[in-house]
Amino acid sequence: MIVVFGSLNIDLVMAVPALPRPGETVLCPSYRALPGGKGNNQAVAAARAGGTVRMFGRVGADGFGTALRDNLVANGIADGDLRTAEAPTGCAAITVDPHGENAIAVASGANLEVRATDVPDAALIPGGFLVAQMEVPDEENWAVLRRAKAAGMRTVLNLAPAPAPTPALTAALRDTVDILVVNELEAAALAGGPNEGSASADAAALCCRLAESLRVVCVVTLGGRGVLACDGERVWSVGALPVTVVDTTGAGDTFTGALVAALDAGEPLPLALSWASTAAALACCGHGAQDSMPHAPQIRASRAKMPPVGELPVELVRHE
Ligand code: RIB
Repeated sequence: MIVVFGSLNIDLVMAVPALPRPGETVLCPSYRALPGGKGNNQAVAAARAGGTVRMFGRVGADGFGTALRDNLVANGIADGDLRTAEAPTGCAAITVDPHGENAIAVASGANLEVRATDVPDAALIPGGFLVAQMEVPDEENWAVLRRAKAAGMRTVLNLAPAPAPTPALTAALRDTVDILVVNELEAAALAGGPNEGSASADAAALCCRLAESLRVVCVVTLGGRGVLACDGERVWSVGALPVTVVDTTGAGDTFTGALVAALDAGEPLPLALSWASTAAALACCGHGAQDSMPHAPQIRASRAKMPPVGELPVELVRHE
C-alpha cells in the first residue's frame, strides 16, 4: 500500500513562445485546466505504474475540487480520503516554452489546511510506503512522516519545492525520511557550500554526501541525464530514455510515484530507479503533468530500451 500525503492543484497550462521575464506580458492562444499538484501527480503516477494508492489532502468546495476528485477516481484512487477545505482548491499558473521548460506559480489555497491528523493511524500500515512533498505545511509533513516511520512504514520525501537549508530541516530529514528525492538544484541547495543554488559539477559526490550526512537513501534526478542514487555504501547511475521533450511539468512527480510503485512491488532499488527514470522520460512527451504520465505496460515496453544500471562503491566517488 502506498499512502500519499500532499497537495492537489488545478494547473492552468499555457504554451507560450517564451517564458515571461519580470514585467513582461506574453500572449498565447489558449490555456488548458488540468489536474496537478505534486501530491496528486505522485499518487496518479504510482497508481498508473501499478501501485495501490491512497491519497490524503484537501480541496475546496468548488468546481476545481470536484474535477480533482473525479480525476483521482478515474485513475483508480478513491476520493474518500480527501477532505473539503474552507479555502478554494489550490491552483497553479504554468507557462511552458517550445523547449518544454516551464515557470510555475502556485496559489496553495486548500493545501494550506492539510493536517497530519487527516491521516488515521489505521492507514499507516507496516511495510507500506508514505510519500510526501513540500506543498503542504512543513510541520504537518514532519508529523505524518514521523508517525509513518514509527508505524513501520518506509518514508519517501520529494523535497520540492526545496526550502532553505537549516539545522531544523537537517534534523527533521534525519529523523523522518528513508528515501529523499531531489533534483540537482535542490540537492546543491540542501548541501550548502560552494555549489549552493546551482547545479553541481559532481552530482555523484553530492548525492553521496547527502546520503551520508542525512542518513537516507538519496536520489538525485538529473533531467535528460538520468538519475543517481546512493545508500551510503553504493552509488547507482541510471541513464535517461531519449525522448522528444514537449513539457517537463510533472516529470519529477512521475519519477517519484513510479519509483515508489516499483519498490512497493518488491523491485530492488536499481531496477526501481530504471523503471522510474523510464516513466519520467515518457511523462515529458505531452503537455500537462498527467496527460502523458505512463501506465505500467508502456513503462515496461520502454524500459527494455534503457541502458543497464551502473553501480560503484561509495569510496570511488566520495569527496572528503
Ligand atoms: O510538479 C509539478 C506540479 O507543481 C504542478 O502540477 C503544479 O500544480 C505544481 O504543484
